Amino acid sequence: MAHGPIRDELTQITQALKDRLLLEKALGVDFVAKTPPETAALELRNLDKEERKRQLEALGKVASTCTKCRLSESRTKVVYGTGDPFAQLMFIGEGPGYEEDQQGLPFVGKAGQLLTKIIAAIKLTREEVYIANMVKCRPPENRTPREDEVFTCTSNYLKYQIQYIRPRIICALGNVAAQGLLHTREGISSLRGRFHDYDGIKLMATFHPAYLLRNPQDKDKCWQDMKKVRKVLDEVSTG
Ligand code: URA
Repeated sequence: MAHGPIRDELTQITQALKDRLLLEKALGVDFVAKTPPETAALELRNLDKEERKRQLEALGKVASTCTKCRLSESRTKVVYGTGDPFAQLMFIGEGPGYEEDQQGLPFVGKAGQLLTKIIAAIKLTREEVYIANMVKCRPPENRTPREDEVFTCTSNYLKYQIQYIRPRIICALGNVAAQGLLHTREGISSLRGRFHDYDGIKLMATFHPAYLLRNPQDKDKCWQDMKKVRKVLDEVSTG
């Protein structure tokens, strides 16, 4: 415990910091970086497993009241993500639909039922993988999320979810996820079927389950993609 002048100085510093934060808040600044980005990335890399899990949950609490973009105005529930916080495989879709918005859980509607089957086909369960979306709030009328919405949401939430979970493989479902994560305008038909790199993580792009419901003739292509994912997971577990 500090005494005398040191204590007085600490009180003054604390007060000055509080005043500064109040001023910034009044000016509309709601996030102040604690450390430069490179240092923050290094610190993140050094976090142990349990701390990463805590951070993942804490970020979910922050996301649950997010108002950073217009999608917050019409959502019912924020759909943060679900599954094993230490999953080797992470699925990333586009954004919540009606059912997801009601329940606050990703992929629980018709497309979700197909995703559950796709996961089962590679001998995993929903609980063993992690499932999230590019945007956490349902776009009105299920429209495609806009670029600024995807940017705001991924740079505040998904990017960190991936860093906390550290999956071996990301499976990007559909155009919005694949193009957004790989920063390309190339379509899913040419991106699918091979591994790409996302920040040192293998990324497989494949068709979105909602597309497959409308185009069942392409289910086999998705199956070919998932077999490649299974093969890498097998190599990881035996290697
Ligand atoms: N489609 C998506 O992209 N994500 C969901 O969570 C549900 C449907």
